[in-house]
Amino acid sequence: MADAESSLKEYTGIDPNKNFHLDVPPGKTNFHVKGMDNVDWGMKDRLSRIFNPKSGNTLMLAFDHGYIMGASTGLERLDVLIPELAEDIDVLMATRGALRSCVPPTFNKAVALRCTAGSTVLSEDVTKEIIGVDIEDAIRINASCMAVQTFLGTEDEKNSIENLVKTINAGNKYNIPTLGVVAVGKQMARNPQFFSLATRVIAELGAQIIKSYYCEDFEKVTAGCPVPIVIAGGKKLPENEALTMAYQAISEGAHGVDMGRNIFQAEDPKAMAKAVAKVVHEGYNDKAAYEFYLDMKKR
Ligand code: 5RP
Repeated sequence: MADAESSLKEYTGIDPNKNFHLDVPPGKTNFHVKGMDNVDWGMKDRLSRIFNPKSGNTLMLAFDHGYIMGASTGLERLDVLIPELAEDIDVLMATRGALRSCVPPTFNKAVALRCTAGSTVLSEDVTKEIIGVDIEDAIRINASCMAVQTFLGTEDEKNSIENLVKTINAGNKYNIPTLGVVAVGKQMARNPQFFSLATRVIAELGAQIIKSYYCEDFEKVTAGCPVPIVIAGGKKLPENEALTMAYQAISEGAHGVDMGRNIFQAEDPKAMAKAVAKVVHEGYNDKAAYEFYLDMKKR
């Protein structure tokens, strides 16, 4: 691999000489989802199921971990967990297996369908993926978007980009958006330069929504990305810290959170889902959301 650090600095370094025009709000548009003014009605309809037209934001509950990790902590019984949380979230991010076997189709929630597959925690290298769900099955399941993991900067980069663009091409035929998920390979630095590059590359390749990690200089990452970014939750943090991360991300231009462990491994998952929703949709700051969480937990 080329010297990733130096090429990142050369081409995408977030430095004081780059101008992300942070003082200029994004151009006024007629549709509430960033960068999506010019897409067709069906695509807008699906995006509006994902992003609340009032707040412009989304709360996705990620519970697709089983396709790599099996029955991981907190996800042992999806048939028990998901009905408890469904009313508090906007989008179910899941595999088709989990949806069909454990989630009643009566919740009328948007679905971010995990469409890549290819390795498990038993594999040495989890970056080698294929497209595991074809467009017909995504249509049958009524997916509001298709999620594709993208391993930029790894040996598998080209294959991963191929999975992404094939899914985008198929989705565009039927107006199903693609959620490009920025994956962080073991060898990649989790720094603003990488996230700025990755989110922009995935957007330019045509993904309508990007999932990425919160990082320093995040407002520059969101400013440089022409479509909405939702932040990944990542490893379990204390509840107040997870709410602070969500609050900072939304304040710095994220259009939602796609959170798994920080909700379903919380001491009180339902109270946590409701508290995150307050940040995402109702403008609560982290302190107010944490107080709300503690209050809900007592009930
Ligand atoms: C990794 C993913 C995961 O499958 C999952 O959605 C992660 O959720 P969390 O890290 O919040 O537990 O998309 O990029």
